[in-house]
Amino acid sequence: MADGGARSIITVADPAAGGKTAVGRLVARIGGNSGRIAICLTGGSSPTALYQLLATTEYRAQIPWDRVHWFVGDERLVPRKDPTHNMSMARQAFLDRCAPAANVHPIPTDTANLGDPDVSAALYENELTAFYGGDHLDPARPLFDLVLMGIGPDGHTASLFPGAPAIEETARWVVGVPKANVEPLVPRVTLTLPALASCREMLFEIAGRSKRVILTRLLAGENLPANRARSSGETVWLVDRAALPEDFRG
Ligand code: 6PG
Repeated sequence: MADGGARSIITVADPAAGGKTAVGRLVARIGGNSGRIAICLTGGSSPTALYQLLATTEYRAQIPWDRVHWFVGDERLVPRKDPTHNMSMARQAFLDRCAPAANVHPIPTDTANLGDPDVSAALYENELTAFYGGDHLDPARPLFDLVLMGIGPDGHTASLFPGAPAIEETARWVVGVPKANVEPLVPRVTLTLPALASCREMLFEIAGRSKRVILTRLLAGENLPANRARSSGETVWLVDRAALPEDFRG
């Protein structure tokens, strides 16, 4: 079923508590690397509390901004100014105020190629391989320190939708996704399972009653993208009580 190693599940009271736990883990990962750091962000609503905390005086002061680079695991093919643009949401929440512009690495969506996800994917793959310094992912040298993830109602994660070819990709780091399963129904660009797996930690945030049905299916072991996305290091699911299926409640 799953392609990677074991994962652990941490339950939290609510999204605010989830944000606190997530920011603590992010700061700890950054603290564990004295060199250049790479964080892969996610879209959707799940990281909202985390992103807001990163802009507060308390957490802002704990991050060596000049050494941290910010990427994104998937993007919707909309102009940068569109409110559903994943990296723009993160920019607005904290990056524009805190991070040097050169350390923010968005997936290009508003160039002449808007509408062709394969072109955006190829450009981003080039950016990632240049940053990494090679196109072969060495398990001893992960691409990212931390990869943030969310889970959609159909079990997708990043823009890896159930049954779509992107989920089976083993060579490319980034691919175009011509059709999304969920809103916004625009083409996407997504990192692939091997690129996402190349990290010290993959941290999922899963919150709200609406996630309970898909979480029940995933915890039963269904072969869905969110179950196949695993870090080569540590994989953690941060689940709030509202999302937790009855059987898993203490
Ligand atoms: C995207 C995402 C996607 C998201 C999940 C969960 O661009 O749509 O990166 O994978 O994380 O759909 O979304 P919510 O956090 O909004 O529930």
